[in-house]
Amino acid sequence: MVRVAVFASGNGGNFQSIVETSRNYEEKLYSVELLIVDKESAYAIERAKKLGVPCYVVLPKTFPSKKEYEEKIIEILKENNIDLIALAGYMRIISPVLLNEYRDKIINIHPAYLPNFPGKDGIGDAFRAGAKETGVTIHYVDEGVDSGKIIYQEKLVIEKDWDLEKLEEEIHKIEHRIYPETLKNLCKNF
Ligand code: GAR
Repeated sequence: MVRVAVFASGNGGNFQSIVETSRNYEEKLYSVELLIVDKESAYAIERAKKLGVPCYVVLPKTFPSKKEYEEKIIEILKENNIDLIALAGYMRIISPVLLNEYRDKIINIHPAYLPNFPGKDGIGDAFRAGAKETGVTIHYVDEGVDSGKIIYQEKLVIEKDWDLEKLEEEIHKIEHRIYPETLKNLCKNF
C-alpha cells in the first residue's frame, strides 16, 4: 500500500475526491495518510476533520526560512512513512530541499492543458485568452513552475456560452475524476 500525503492551500476539493474515491476502491493501492496545509484559513482543514484524515497546518511565516519550513514538512512525512506526495491546489513552489528528499515522488494537478497556461490561475488565464480549448494536466514536480514530466492530461472544449464559473465547474469535474484514477495507476507500478 502506497502511503500518500496531500498538500493543499485552499478549498480542498481535490483532496476530498482523492480520499473518498480511494476509500471506495475494491483493491486498495494507496491510502491518504495525512494532509498538509500552509494556510490557517484553508477550507481543506474542515474537510480533513470530516474525513478523519490527520491534518498538519505548517505555516511558512513561522519559520526563519523556506529551508526550515520544508525541513519541518520532511520531518512530518518521514514520521508517517510517506511514499508519495500529491499537490492539490498547493500554491507554493517546492524548493530543492523537499524535491531532493522526494525526487520523482511529488505530483501536481494543474487546471490547464500544459504547457499552455501554467501558473497560479490556469483557468482564468485560458478563459481571458479566449482559448477554444483547455484541460487538466497531472505531472511530476520539478524545480520549475508546472514544468515537470507529464503523467496524464485531458482536453476540454470551451463552449461559446460558458462563463468563467461554468469553466471552473467543468475543470473541477475532470480533476476530481482523473486525480484519484491517475494516482491509482501510478501506485500499480510504484
Ligand atoms: C485546482 O483547480 C487545482 O488544479 C489548482 O487549484 C485548484 C485547487 O482546488 N492548482 C493550481 O492552480 C496549481 N498551479 P481544490 O483546493 O478545490 O482542490
